[in-house]
Amino acid sequence: MAAVPFDQRDGEIWFDGVFIPWKDAKVHVLTHGLHYASSVFEGERAYGGEVFKLEEHTERLHMSADVLGFEIPYSAEVINAATKELLRRHNLVDAYIRPVAWRGSEMMGVSAQHNTIHLAIAAWEWPSYFKPEERLKGIRLDMADYRRPDPRTAPYKSKAAGLYMICTLSKHAAERKGYADALMLDWRGQVAEATGANVFFVKDGKLHTPTPDCFLDGITRRTVIGLARARGLEVIERAIMPEELSGFEQCFLTGTAAEVTPVSEIGPHNFQVGEISRVLMEDYTAAVQPKAAPRVAAAG
Ligand SMILES: Cc1ncc(COP(=O)(O)O)c(C=O)c1O
Repeated sequence: MAAVPFDQRDGEIWFDGVFIPWKDAKVHVLTHGLHYASSVFEGERAYGGEVFKLEEHTERLHMSADVLGFEIPYSAEVINAATKELLRRHNLVDAYIRPVAWRGSEMMGVSAQHNTIHLAIAAWEWPSYFKPEERLKGIRLDMADYRRPDPRTAPYKSKAAGLYMICTLSKHAAERKGYADALMLDWRGQVAEATGANVFFVKDGKLHTPTPDCFLDGITRRTVIGLARARGLEVIERAIMPEELSGFEQCFLTGTAAEVTPVSEIGPHNFQVGEISRVLMEDYTAAVQPKAAPRVAAAG
């Protein structure tokens, strides 16, 4: 049976400061964010009723808007409180949270200096699927045709909707060929990231990951670097060329949705799901657990 479409679910969405019925959380077709991609968002996960790194995500949301030249008219305190209240109202324990901010409808042209800035936050159940046997097989990646753009051509530090156009194109192309995702190079031809996650490689007991100078420096990426260093592993951030892929032993992706996901193949290159990938998967699983006692869903 097909899943219920996202615009037809039950519950509430926080929309411009108030909780409204999920099905009423609509925007007009003449919305600047829809036509000109003046929209920024976050992807967050709650584990045991607590959002992992909520403050960092909200900070990045504000920063993303700032990079696009607009200010979200709600403080971090208001956004964080709304997120927690949303989880509470829906009795969500393991969940995905999607805040999105966009320019409204007052002006409909490239210039939209005075359009109202809107913010909505939705959350839905997303079970924590740590099924090691499935994920330990590793996923298969294709090489994407599109490249992460030169920072002079796109505001890469922003988690901006427009930057995902080439991600969706690349992911669709990979899926059509039977791959789970695609690895994108950057404008210089260096290894960059997957379509919604950062990438790490392992060689001779050390981690190698591309320097995030034209793509998102993920919150999970930074968390995993910290976890690796806490284990005494060396983490080298540097330019990585595609010619080096054949020399790496292990590979994994990191992201709020991907968590730590081992990669078994990138195009013609094969990787083992080795000890370091496994240990970091486990360490990440432990790190996301709530610091307070985990909440369980109330019955009924
Ligand atoms: C393109 C892209 N890169 C990297 C990431 C990883 O970021 P984070 O770990 O903050 O979720 C994401 C996910 O948000 C993403 O969409």
